[in-house]
Amino acid sequence: MSKPSPTRTTAKATGPAGISDRRTLRANARKRIEDGAVTPTYSADRTAVVKLLNDALATEWVCVLRYYRHYYMAKGMLADAVKAEFLEHAQQEQAHAGMLAERIVQLGGEPDFDPDTLTARSHAEYKEGGNLRDMVRENLVAERIAIDSYREMINFVGDKDTTTKRILEHILAQEEEHADDFADMLEGWIGE
Ligand SMILES: [Fe+2]
Ligand SMILES: [Fe+2]
Repeated sequence: MSKPSPTRTTAKATGPAGISDRRTLRANARKRIEDGAVTPTYSADRTAVVKLLNDALATEWVCVLRYYRHYYMAKGMLADAVKAEFLEHAQQEQAHAGMLAERIVQLGGEPDFDPDTLTARSHAEYKEGGNLRDMVRENLVAERIAIDSYREMINFVGDKDTTTKRILEHILAQEEEHADDFADMLEGWIGE
């Protein structure tokens, strides 16, 4: 009786913990192919993640609208410098909304752009602000809300969905820059 060859035994042995063999990978990939990027090993709560991303999407759009309002309404001695900042932030928030919508679709969800429910679903508020300084202060508050909510989402998603986590981390870093821009402006503010 011949013994199994050592080579065959090694090939059949299981690999490092958490690493599937080729056959398992191939079989899993053929299950529910209509789910696209979402494979059977996706371990986050997909419904909850999509809901969080949609809340963040609503927040981003409320911020886009608030920044545009402020951009067009800004008046006064410092208006030119501040307007440039408002416009840049409006465009960056819109880009964030795009990243979130794209990820929602990849996860099999639907991005909710319904304007009727936008402000109710947003974390940040749409505050018009009475003067330039008010506008800057309201934007700083909104950015600080966004920072906290993105940080919570990152903790929730954790390492179960690293792509979503990476997107959220990228956005969080920009919201921190936005908040810092306004904190700097307020620090040296002269006049009303
Ligand atoms: Fe944003
Ligand atoms: Fe921001």
